[in-house]
Formats: sequence, structure tokens, C-alpha cells
Amino acid sequence: MEPVSTLRLSDQQCGISQASRILNDGGLVAFPTETVYGLGADATNDVAVANIFDAKARPTFNPLIVHLPSLTAARKIAIFNEHAIRLAETFWPGPLTIVAPLRENAGISHLVTAGLQSIAIRVPAHPLAHDILTDFGGPIAAPSANPSGKISPTTADHVLSGLSGRIQAVVDGGACDVGLESTIVGCVDTPTLLRPGGLPSEAIEACLGHTLIAAQETNKPSAPGQLKSHYAPMAQVHLNQSVPEKGDLWLGFGPNATGATLNLSRSGDLVEAAANLFGYLHRLDGFANPGQGISVSPIPNQGLGRAINDRLQRAAAPRP
Ligand code: TXA
Ligand code: MG
Repeated sequence: MEPVSTLRLSDQQCGISQASRILNDGGLVAFPTETVYGLGADATNDVAVANIFDAKARPTFNPLIVHLPSLTAARKIAIFNEHAIRLAETFWPGPLTIVAPLRENAGISHLVTAGLQSIAIRVPAHPLAHDILTDFGGPIAAPSANPSGKISPTTADHVLSGLSGRIQAVVDGGACDVGLESTIVGCVDTPTLLRPGGLPSEAIEACLGHTLIAAQETNKPSAPGQLKSHYAPMAQVHLNQSVPEKGDLWLGFGPNATGATLNLSRSGDLVEAAANLFGYLHRLDGFANPGQGISVSPIPNQGLGRAINDRLQRAAAPRP
């Protein structure tokens, strides 16, 4: 791919209009959502979507999430069963992605769905994402705006440090509030948790009135992009360390992690920890000397802690 000079666009109307012009011309624009920054392209344009995979060096078997401004727009593209409608009405706009059967002739590039008959859809809550979607007026395919396998971006600087020269622009909307990717629920038939994320599964279960099937408990393939090694910093990650391994930097959690290099939440608040997670991993990676690892405190496995532990386990997994 030819290197391009990547623009940093403002969060004002001029930035939004320019972002939607670039998308219209088949370009790539990163923009903030409440979860992480997404790398957007016109979901109906095969070449634009192919360029997302190229810019991220993302395997093409890994389908993308389509972003839309409303449930009404989403129902034109996918078939929503009663569970999907209930979840969407309760949690959209917000950090929830719903996988539902793709409608015939929806006009979405086959690269977006990686040839699957289902499609992942999300209505983001971030006002800038909403404004870009409405201004552009069509479906925007957007994975997280990081090179494939690396730490997800929660600021425009993270996006630029990973993708500068490979994408046309990033709209700078400051830091993302939630800090973890959306929770993905499969609603092709019975609701299934495909990826824990920024909406706690307890909230989804309370809405549905029953427990969610976890994808690994069924024989069906889950979110194909749930690669074992992902979200990985350069440094080796050591999990569940109440005291750090010798020589490691220490990513602490809670009031007992005295002496931690950075603490995800001194008070032990999982929402605060989620918002800090990727940003702190980026920072620690910058601090680490060659060969130095990152020890991470134990994180309670409830609420957003499940998604934090999911990301940390992938960050710690052996690299391909
Ligand atoms: O919060 C988020 O979800 C962010 C923001 C930008 O919206 N996006 C994001 O995209 O995390 P990405 O590409 O990093 O993750 C998309 C996940 C992958 O694991 C992919 O396999 C899964 O969604 N996915 C997409 N389409 C699917 C489908 N039809 N069935 C099952 N999983 C699907
Ligand atoms: Mg990602």
C-alpha cells in the first residue's frame, strides 16, 4: 500500500463533514466510539473494506462489525428476532453488538461478513460516532483501529501510533469512556455470549430473564476473531500477580497494590479499571526495557472484570 499522510480531524462539524466526505470517496477514517476507536469504511464498498484489512494486516476470515445510527436502520440489514429486539431496545445506543441473520440484498460487502450468513451490528452511543453515521448516511464497517493483534486504541494518539501513514484520517474525540470493546451477543437463535465486553453479561441476562449460553459451551463457532493471542503489548504479560515478578513492571488493581507502576483502580472499581486498561498497557509498553515483563494484579471475575480478564488472557497468550 502507498503511504498516505494521515489527517487529525477536529470533533467539530468541519471534522465530521470531512470524515464523511473521505468515507464517501472510499477512504478509511478512524473515529471514537464509547468503547474504543473504530477504523471506519463504507460497508457497501468492497475496495474500501478490503483496505481496512490491508491497513490493519487483519486476516480476512475475521468479519467486521457494521455501525448504524438506529435500530430502524439495523433492521433493514438484518433479521431481528424477539431477543435481539429486546436487547437492542434496552441497550442501544451502547456497548453491545448483536449478531443476526443478514438480509438478502442488504448491499453489504461480502468482505464485511467474511462470507457468513450473519452480520454483527452495533449502534454506538458516542455523540461523534452518531454524528458521523448520520452525516455519512450509510452503514460503516469498523473494527478497532489498531494493527491486528495489538492493543486496542482508546485515544487518537494510540490510533496514530499504530496506523499513521496507512489510513486517511482520525477524528480526535479524546479518550473513550468505556475502554473495552462491545459485548457481542449472537441472536441467530438462542442468545449466546460471543465476546465479553463493555456491557456486563449480568445486565444482559437481567434483560433477557435467563442466563446467556457461553459460546465455548456450544459446538458452533463463536466470534471468529476471538484469537488466542490478541491485544498484545510488546512486553510479556504475567497474570494474577499479587506481588510482581522480579524485574517486572506492575499493573496493579485495588488498594493493596502498593508500589504498582500504574494502578487500574486504586479503589477497586471495575468500571474505572476497564476505562484505563488499554491506555495503561500502551503506557507500560512504552516504559518497558527490552525483555522486561508486565505483572498484573488479580482482577475479580464479575461485571466488567470478565471482559478485562478476557483481554488480559489474550494479551498474555503465547504469540503466533
Ligand atoms: O466496541 C467494538 O465492538 C469496536 C468498536 C470500534 O465498535 N469494534 C471491534 O471490532 O471491537 P473488532 O473487529 O475488533 O471485533 C469484531 C468482532 C470479531 O471478534 C469478529 O470475529 C466478530 O466481531 N464478528 C463480526 N461479525 C461476526 C459474525 N457474523 N458472527 C460472529 N462474530 C462476528
Ligand atoms: Mg479488535
